[in-house]
Amino acid sequence: MSTNAATETLGRDPNCCRCSLWKSTIHICIWGRGSLRAKILELGEAPGVAEEETGKPFTGKAGQLLNRLNEIVGIEKHIYITNPVKCRPPGNRKPSPKELTACLPYLKKEIELIRPKVIVLLGRVAMKSLGLGGDVNAQTKPFWLEPWPDCWVVPTWHPAYCLRAGRESAKELALVLQRAKKLVNRQSEWR
Ligand code: URA
Repeated sequence: MSTNAATETLGRDPNCCRCSLWKSTIHICIWGRGSLRAKILELGEAPGVAEEETGKPFTGKAGQLLNRLNEIVGIEKHIYITNPVKCRPPGNRKPSPKELTACLPYLKKEIELIRPKVIVLLGRVAMKSLGLGGDVNAQTKPFWLEPWPDCWVVPTWHPAYCLRAGRESAKELALVLQRAKKLVNRQSEWR
């Protein structure tokens, strides 16, 4: 089954109106992309202009950087990339708490479907979507989170931040992805 076929059957709703973002977006409910057997799930923020055009997450500049880093680390075939909010907020503003809550059942379905061994939280919105606060940095230790007892959670920078902050932060993000890969390998081989 292709990613799209599987995710469509598991609840992506192209007519979703759980929050009001459907009114302003041209592409409703953009689900993740990548391997359904992924060991690592990378969680961003929300679709932007490029994603609204392509209907796939992380296809703009931040996505290109993330793709490159995934390739450098050698995990590009073992990841599933998605957003906690599936519709583009107007003007690319941050998703509101209400929008994060409305979209959470979709994210939970994706996590149930993929059953990742590691969830990489890319930035503060990704953290908030799972009820986590605090600052993000490249040194945060992995932890477990209910209700996923077998899955490591690793917070880190959002790649859009790295585009602004420069090379060193992108290198640090690559190191975090490297650590995520090692965490997976400690538990099992790539499927
Ligand atoms: N594109 C996405 O799909 N998500 C982000 O968080 C940023 C850009």
